[in-house]
Amino acid sequence: MTGSNGIESTVAQFSSDPWATHCVTIENIHREIAGVATYDLAFRDKSVADAFRFSPGQFNMLYLPGAGEIAISISDDPANTQSCAHTIRVAGNVTRTLASMKIGDTLGLRGPFGTSWPMAQCIGRDVVMITGGIGLPPLRPAIYQLLRDRRLFGRLSLLYGARSPDTLLYQDEYDRWTENGLSVATTVDRSDANWRGNVGVVTMLMDQLRDFDPRNTVLMCCGPEVMLRFTVLSALNRGLAMEQIWVSMERNMQCAVGHCGHCQLGPAFICKDGPVFRYDKIAPYIDVKGL
Ligand SMILES: Cc1cc2nc3c(=O)[nH]c(=O)nc-3n(C[C@H](O)[C@H](O)[C@H](O)COP(=O)(O)OP(=O)(O)OC[C@H]3O[C@@H](n4cnc5c(N)ncnc54)[C@H](O)[C@@H]3O)c2cc1C
Ligand code: FES
Repeated sequence: MTGSNGIESTVAQFSSDPWATHCVTIENIHREIAGVATYDLAFRDKSVADAFRFSPGQFNMLYLPGAGEIAISISDDPANTQSCAHTIRVAGNVTRTLASMKIGDTLGLRGPFGTSWPMAQCIGRDVVMITGGIGLPPLRPAIYQLLRDRRLFGRLSLLYGARSPDTLLYQDEYDRWTENGLSVATTVDRSDANWRGNVGVVTMLMDQLRDFDPRNTVLMCCGPEVMLRFTVLSALNRGLAMEQIWVSMERNMQCAVGHCGHCQLGPAFICKDGPVFRYDKIAPYIDVKGL
């Protein structure tokens, strides 16, 4: 689907009233790493829960009365219809307020919003997912979906970088992902006494990727913009076309429906034309040539 601004998207239709804020209960809180927790949110209204569907890469707006409303990616398995996980790092006022809440507390949720990872285009292809730090949560739904339909895809690789070994998210899931056919490679900026893995930036893993077939690979990238730029540069150097690269972008958001302009990137609004973009569509606005 292509919008009036020429930006291609994968899912950008609102599946429900975009202004409707639904009451959700915190069903579970899983402490991931220092300052980051995953909140399982369950809709109070069963009919809303039954109707709620999302695609990997989409986000919700979480509303905490008195604190504010924030965009948070859905980090759950799209097949999970019971609750909806969001992995959240404490950054400022709203996320700090959320961190003080407990199981059973309620908040507001509207969504899902935005475009998704190009799951259909991955069929028959190798898929490389590259991410850093808190960039992994928006990719986790894609991982679940790829592994559920594993036979449809070629080689699956996750390249993940973090500041230090204790800041790698979802470590208790890596073995299961590997057993199910995902190659997981991690790297850290700073090692500790127990770390036997890679040390260095995540693009190093990209450069080291073996059996890389540039004609038949889809690359998904999510992380800080500087990481994204170096990743794209590395991918282009390894022969990938811009059309094979998909990136998830982040900006401060308010309305999430393309009205307020807070999230504008060139002619695009990240909330409704993104957050996932095919790279060639936004390349002029995140130019890597100047690196
Ligand atoms: C599409 C999308 C998906 C997101 N998914 C997640 C997620 O899965 N998990 C998660 O922890 N966070 C996610 N974020 C970021 C999250 O929305 C912000 O961290 C949050 O709004 C901060 O709110 P706050 O009131 O706690 O902090 P604030 O007081 O608003 O901000 C604290 C600091 O963070 C900066 N900041 C605020 N919002 C952003 C942003 N969007 N990008 C970069 N810096 C920002 C501010 O400039 C300030 O320096 C996502 C953002 C977007 C746009
Ligand atoms: S958040 Fe308002 S236009 Fe995107």
